Amino acid sequence: MADSYAVIGNPIAHSKSPLIHTEFSRQTGQDIFYEAILAPLDAFAVTVATFRQHGGKGMNVTIPFKQEACKISSRLTERAQIAQAVNTLAFTAEEILGDNTDGAGLVRDIVVNLEFSLTVKRVLLMGAGGAARGVVLPLLEHKPRILTIANRTRQKAYELEQQFSCYGNVLSGDYADLRGEKFDLVINATSASLTGSLPSLPLGIFANGSLAYDMMYGIERSPFLDFAREHGVTRLADGIGMLVEQAAESFFLWRGVRPKTDSVIGMLESYALKSKRV
Ligand code: ATR
Repeated sequence: MADSYAVIGNPIAHSKSPLIHTEFSRQTGQDIFYEAILAPLDAFAVTVATFRQHGGKGMNVTIPFKQEACKISSRLTERAQIAQAVNTLAFTAEEILGDNTDGAGLVRDIVVNLEFSLTVKRVLLMGAGGAARGVVLPLLEHKPRILTIANRTRQKAYELEQQFSCYGNVLSGDYADLRGEKFDLVINATSASLTGSLPSLPLGIFANGSLAYDMMYGIERSPFLDFAREHGVTRLADGIGMLVEQAAESFFLWRGVRPKTDSVIGMLESYALKSKRV
């Protein structure tokens, strides 16, 4: 019988993970079964336990359970510990391993797929919530000249600066503090796009040849990518590449085989994409 995996979240119907992992399994010849599971908001732990009792080998975890997944893990990888969030669970008889592949997925999409080196670049990360926290360390590992974290609530950005400044050159502030600054890479890790809004970015923050990256995917339009386009940015990406790369990293953790991602990214892009990667 095929080994069983699932993505768990609430809501979950929109998830592309079953499609992605089924494609990985076909491509690599790994015999797995992958489904989407809706967990009641107050029954995450019990839903995971039931899946595990029925022989499940691993899960991807999505909104709103990433922090809770941290708590039910008996061991955390260093990157999950630092992110304080888990998006991948691996089950053995002895333990529940919690990992976080989001940051690695983002960085791999930027550096490998989009061929944009982060080294000595000026990078702006917008947002200081769970999504932002998970990508700070993987970004710093590529030695940008500066990583500026900007957030509507300045204190939360400052807390990230305090936590991560021992790993690299990190500054923090709110959006008004960015006046007069220019960046080679601007990443939107806020949830503003979900409500059709945009952090109040000052004009002139995009350097020549800059890349604008919205970690959101599957939304009708990204106000951030529209803003970037209107201000002359020609390199634009939404979070489809990150989504596929974090899935590939989870698949690797579970199966020890790294699937190819380019055809899967292409397949998802050809399905619906309004905001294109250029
Ligand atoms: P996630 O797990 O997606 O990061 P979160 O932890 O709730 O979700 O964080 C949401 C992030 O988006 C925060 O940085 C939030 O800013 P605040 O900390 O000031 O609340 C940011 N955000 C949400 N809507 C926004 C908007 N309209 N403009 C600017 N920032 C916004």
